[in-house]
Amino acid sequence: MIDWKVSESGFDSSKNTSNGNKYLLGNGYMGVRGTLDEFEKDGYVAINLAGIYDQVGDAWREPLNAPNALYTYAVVDGVKLDANAFAPKSHTFTLDYRKALLTRESVWDVNGVTVTVKAERFASMPSPHLLGSRFVLTVDREAKVKLVAGIDSDVWDINGPHYDKVVGSTLDNSIKVVTTTHESADHVCVAEEIRTNFKAEAGSFEEPLKTLKTYEFTAEPGVEYVLDKLAAVYTSKDTDEFEAEAQKLAYDKAQAGYEAARQENIDMWESKWKVSEIIIEGDDKAMEATNYSLYHLHCIAPRHADSMSIAARGLSGQTYKGAVFWDTEMFMLDFFLFTEPAVAKTLMKYRIDTLQGAKNKAAGYGFDGAFYAWESQEGGFDGCSDYNVTDVFTGRPMRTFFKDKQIHISAAVVYGIMKYVRYTGDTSILNEGGAETVIECAKFYYSLLLKKVNSDKYELHDVIGPDEYHERVNNNGYTNRMAKYTFDAAAEIAAGKCDLDAAVVEKLGKQYDLADLAAKFADAAEHLYIPQPDPKTGVIEQFDGYLKLEDCSVDEVRSRLLHDKEYWGGAYGVAAHTQVIKQADVVTWLTLFADEFDDDTLLKNWSFYEPRTEHGSSLSACMYALLACRCGLSDWAYPFFMKSASADIKGGGKEWAGLVYIGGTHPAAAGGAYMNVVKGFGGFSIKNGEVCVEPALPSNWTRLAYNINYGGKLYHIDIKDGKADITVS
Ligand code: BGC
Repeated sequence: MIDWKVSESGFDSSKNTSNGNKYLLGNGYMGVRGTLDEFEKDGYVAINLAGIYDQVGDAWREPLNAPNALYTYAVVDGVKLDANAFAPKSHTFTLDYRKALLTRESVWDVNGVTVTVKAERFASMPSPHLLGSRFVLTVDREAKVKLVAGIDSDVWDINGPHYDKVVGSTLDNSIKVVTTTHESADHVCVAEEIRTNFKAEAGSFEEPLKTLKTYEFTAEPGVEYVLDKLAAVYTSKDTDEFEAEAQKLAYDKAQAGYEAARQENIDMWESKWKVSEIIIEGDDKAMEATNYSLYHLHCIAPRHADSMSIAARGLSGQTYKGAVFWDTEMFMLDFFLFTEPAVAKTLMKYRIDTLQGAKNKAAGYGFDGAFYAWESQEGGFDGCSDYNVTDVFTGRPMRTFFKDKQIHISAAVVYGIMKYVRYTGDTSILNEGGAETVIECAKFYYSLLLKKVNSDKYELHDVIGPDEYHERVNNNGYTNRMAKYTFDAAAEIAAGKCDLDAAVVEKLGKQYDLADLAAKFADAAEHLYIPQPDPKTGVIEQFDGYLKLEDCSVDEVRSRLLHDKEYWGGAYGVAAHTQVIKQADVVTWLTLFADEFDDDTLLKNWSFYEPRTEHGSSLSACMYALLACRCGLSDWAYPFFMKSASADIKGGGKEWAGLVYIGGTHPAAAGGAYMNVVKGFGGFSIKNGEVCVEPALPSNWTRLAYNINYGGKLYHIDIKDGKADITVS
């Protein structure tokens, strides 16, 4: 059994960036990087907000980090206790990921006085605008203490500063900061209430961009001096009354007391774990890594919204511009669908509500329909730049074509919508714009089809598949198969085969010639060229001409790097002219559509592509694990599963693409690990409307138990000795 904690002892400032991710707290509205109370922006502190962005000049548009409400430090006998500047004698940092509580305990020797700081913090799941922290100081000898607590608006940004104006104020035990953003004059308000269990001489002061209160007293040995903070964050996008709401929430929660808010949070987390926890016997490491991955998915679930998605780096910071990629639909969706379908709906509603952005993008390239943003920000705006990587040799931005050519994104949106509808049976999403979204995505692909005069097949040229190292290729198998999926779904809708409301059918009938579209999409689905396995080798060529590229190993390609941060793809990247690929591509296709192939073909492609895959993206390993499970090879799957499940608990993932920092949490890998356990080893699927479990556990697992939310019922699946026991509640 596991203790549901990750922790470490000893302070090492070189871990500040990675610990910010590893010890992250979050509640979907905001993510709080795992840093210490006294840290400032050089310690990579961030309270990263979901769905609100700002751009300064020509720099990349990125999500906002709120002023740091949890900023607190102690000065003892004139010495400031800041672990970065003055090493503690001992230090432990612990995340209880069952309770979603982060604690630290640091002990300093201040000229012979032993000072202990114990602090804990949480980001409330039941009250998503709320943060709480408790800072407890004790000394072993009498000492003069000044506690400094308040809001630090001098926030860490990658492409900031985003606040043109910061106005701070204090009144008794309340502190408030209101900021104004650069691009569209949005406001972020942080209001906090401080409560102490001791009497002190209180004061307040402003440093540039810091609004602070001070509490000075003489500390007696052995007494616990407790400072509680309850802080609320609201933006002008949440409500016009953002200041009043923030102040009220902080005040009400402070009056009810820190303990009450802390307990409410623990209780709600426990209710989520009751459904989503995964029990693995015989392999504690796997059980820990899996549930820790699920912790991160819970931290970023947009439960506070009814139309919002999840950024590729979750709420761990501004990396990847806080943008939504195909990661959500293809990697994270299953977890929410199987445990909390309401969140899955929220995720898909975001795509439906950003349809206009996708139509604008398609029109911008001269295409019909909807071409979704590769890096979607609010309104479906594509945050992806034309120059997404910086050349390490010249320092110049490199032209990349992710935004223009990764057309498989629109199919991912369709896949997500249809998966939601088919799994839940809830067609409301189709009525609420989903049907139109699917049709528009199909229209997009239709406008891209090419036909050679001597062929009856349609082709898709000049694309980038999941393997981003090979740009502008023709007939990427994954892309073509996903486009066919889109045509099939859209043809079904246009032909009236989905259970839509009569009013919606009427509206669609006015908007489109449905019979004509149904015929066109059916024709496109039938005639779209899908690369087939080579009759001799069984291998499917990833794109036209791929097999003619230099066949060499990943290590060989790596040995050709002239710089460790050099980009492998693009026009002259080391992998671009070889068969070495960044991530699962054909294997992703075969995983999704495994039933269309025999096991021998699946295995041959797995065996061909795996040695050629760098796994340079955290999205890669879980697809190899799923396909291996499908081929009955659980033990082959296991190391790939563990790689996905450990992406954040172990850290050490890729932090650079060229000279661009890409560190943060890896929610797609977390979602992938979940799929591996439940669908791969756990063998869960829906067959003919029934829950079906065909398990194949790795040889070291003696038991696997998980729950599935299906058809409004909770299925408890308990697998032991190769047999699955299923009970329903
Ligand atoms: C991967 C993409 C992924 C993105 C965000 C890139 O490195 O190649 O497939 O969507 O990261 O996670």
